[in-house]
This record gives sequence, structure tokens and C-alpha cells, in this order.
Amino acid sequence: MYTWNDIEQHIAACTHCPLSQTRHLPVMGRGSHNADIMLIAEAPGSLEDQEGLPFVGRSGKILDELLKDCSLKRKDIYITNILKCHPPGNRDPKDTEKEACFPYLKYETFLLKPRIIVCLGRVAAQRIISPNYKITRQHGTWTYRKDCALTAVYHPSAILRDMSKMEETKADFHEIVRKRNELLSLEL
Ligand code: URA
Repeated sequence: MYTWNDIEQHIAACTHCPLSQTRHLPVMGRGSHNADIMLIAEAPGSLEDQEGLPFVGRSGKILDELLKDCSLKRKDIYITNILKCHPPGNRDPKDTEKEACFPYLKYETFLLKPRIIVCLGRVAAQRIISPNYKITRQHGTWTYRKDCALTAVYHPSAILRDMSKMEETKADFHEIVRKRNELLSLEL
């Protein structure tokens, strides 16, 4: 069985898709390895590619505002992306890239065993929750799979483009904390 360290080393050495030729640094997930809440976005942006860390750019500031509003801290959650490498020009990830990278996400999820998975944006929601997921209509709603509750919220970059999405996304994050507390209260 792989450890977190093993996964990080595999990602660092990965050449499974052409993004490994254009990336600067791969971006492994970050946060608590004991977190109940796992956030999954689509792919690192250009600043993340330079720093090798998720959500350090402008979207990261929006994410921090959402977390602060519901009293979550980055160190209490785990944040990762479907792709570990930056797609040039911030284009949507290709299906072949998503499938090449998916085993890493599966392993992160296997090691973390989150109670709640939050997809950040349409791309993650359509790959993880349902191919027909409609983020405008379905954000903030719950789907259950094994021991895990899944939801999706607007991607922070969508909020940057349209700040009117901020308040409903804050409400979705409050609901995520409420659900986390509910699930924890059911544990023996
Ligand atoms: N956007 C993403 O989807 N992921 C990041 O890590 C940063 C920006």
C-alpha cells in the first residue's frame, strides 16, 4: 500500500500525459491528512504551477474568504485537483488528461477517507458526481456514496468573474459545515 509520500513521489515523476512536458511543478493536494472534508477542483492555475501548491493565486483568495466565513481553516481540510499539472492557458482539462491523472486522486481519497467531498466547479462535479451535473441548478445539494456525502459549489474563479455568486457559495459552505457536524454526531 502506498503512503502519502509515495503518491507525492509518483506524481513528481509522472509522465503519463503530455502536461508533464509543459508543467513547471506538479501540484499535489495539501492540508490535513485527517480531514473530514476534501475539496476537489479541476487543475492548477499558472501561479500554482510556479509554486507547486494548490490555490495560491486569486482563486485561492476567494477560497480563503469562503473558508473564513464558515470558520474553516486550510489546515482543517484537504484540497486537491483532478489534474496535478497545469493545462497551458488554463484551458479545460482534456478527458485523456483527467483519466491519466485519476488514479492519483483515487489514491488520495483512499488514504484520506473523507466524510464529505466538495467539488469546486463544473469540471470536477461532472467527473466526480455525475456527467450531467448542472452546477447552476444543483450546487449545494447532496449525493451519497458509500460513507461519503458529495456536493459541489461554484469554482472560486467563477465567483471572481461574477461576484454575485459569492453569497450563495458562502451559504453552500455553511451547509457543508452543518453536514459535517451532522455526520460526526452520528458516529459512535
Ligand atoms: N484553480 C483550480 O482549479 N485549482 C487550483 O489549484 C487553483 C486554481
